[in-house]
Amino acid sequence: MKLKTLALALSVSLFVYNCSSDSKEELEENATEQETNNDTDDTTEDNDTTTNDDTTARVTYNNTVRDIMANNCTRCHGSPTTNGAPFPLLNFDQVSSRSARIISRMNNQAAPMPPRGLVSTSIRAQMDQWRADGLLEN
Ligand code: HEC
Repeated sequence: MKLKTLALALSVSLFVYNCSSDSKEELEENATEQETNNDTDDTTEDNDTTTNDDTTARVTYNNTVRDIMANNCTRCHGSPTTNGAPFPLLNFDQVSSRSARIISRMNNQAAPMPPRGLVSTSIRAQMDQWRADGLLEN
């Protein structure tokens, strides 16, 4: 009887020990997993920020403005200039140094650039965005 009780007590304590050691390991595993998840989350958040930046797509000279100039301006503001255009608009320096006048004339209904009429709202919005983003080249 005493031996039976002892055996029972022993097996119970072994059981409890196993369980607690198991759950401790599990906890540690979970903790590690959580850390890993947190790391991943952090990275994802960082990526999200970059992605968001990309989604609001920074307008740069190279990715947008150069094409706008080429499509609407450089047939007069080229090299050489034609039709009485006062300067070329062929590279970043020539365009960025005149950004204020360019954006002003591109939105001037009474004296638009190009002279034949205002370009689309979305093109003009891209020019505004270029200025807002800091007149970036790249
Ligand atoms: C058909 C020819 C022609 C095209 C195309 C043209 N321009 Fe001009 N641009 C001129 C002429 C001519 C002048 C000088 C007379 C004037 O200011 O109106 C001029 C002047 C300018 C000036 C000086 C204005 C000032 O007030 O100092 C800017 C800036 C300018 N153009 C920007 C542009 C931009 C940007 C485009 C394209 C979106 C463009 N132009 C397209 C002919 C053109």
